[in-house]
Amino acid sequence: MHQNQTIDIVEEAEREEARKMIELGEMMVYRSNINKLADGEHTPGCSFTMSALKPSLMGEDPRLPAMPERPTLIDFFNLRFGPSKMHLLQSARLAQKNGLPEKIILGCLLHDISVISFFRPDHGYWGAAMLQPYVDEEVSWAIRMHQPLRFFPNDELGYEYPAVYAKRFVGYKLPEYIVRDAEVAKSHKWYMSAMQICLNDLYSFDPEVVVNIMDFEDIIGRHFKQPKEGLGNDNTQASHIWRTLRRPANAL
Ligand SMILES: [Fe+2]
Ligand SMILES: [Fe+2]
Repeated sequence: MHQNQTIDIVEEAEREEARKMIELGEMMVYRSNINKLADGEHTPGCSFTMSALKPSLMGEDPRLPAMPERPTLIDFFNLRFGPSKMHLLQSARLAQKNGLPEKIILGCLLHDISVISFFRPDHGYWGAAMLQPYVDEEVSWAIRMHQPLRFFPNDELGYEYPAVYAKRFVGYKLPEYIVRDAEVAKSHKWYMSAMQICLNDLYSFDPEVVVNIMDFEDIIGRHFKQPKEGLGNDNTQASHIWRTLRRPANAL
């Protein structure tokens, strides 16, 4: 037997062992540091020790719904986004009722995509980064800027400081970058697009009204540049974000 064949057999045995461990739930599933920090976990100093090496999750996560080979935005909506996606659907529905252009309806449909799928902090900025290669530049700009603009009422447009912010962010002092970016956005040619997102950002809606992502299938088809390889399998500056969302607990 050649040495290569021996290696193949050993590797196959290891793969088989790893497969059994997934079935038995013995696979190491790592939590990223950002998740630990978000839970308030922090170990000061350097106390790193290498624990015994075990099979680790690298690939599809058996705990999560399986995704198609070439996932679309709608697949991510259905299989990865959290329940607060209803906020996005309701905001898009309101924008549609208000007769706004399809591009803006898409912006409303995706404006908090980071909150419902990825990170809450700096959600407008993360959302824009996820979407930039796939939507019109105006849409990703408006999504980025709705975050700072949300804090600034505009009487002329009938935009008030959100009641939910007043309740939830008591004593919050706006950081410099929020003030700076809102100031820049106010004199930008796409200011109204970002403000339309703010104006249609619907927090109080009738829970009896069910909105489905398929209601927006046509608008997504016309305005979201779905890569034929599938989100994450393509090669853009944001592909890795979609891959991470698909397999959020991979060891590396
Ligand atoms: Fe938002
Ligand atoms: Fe929102």
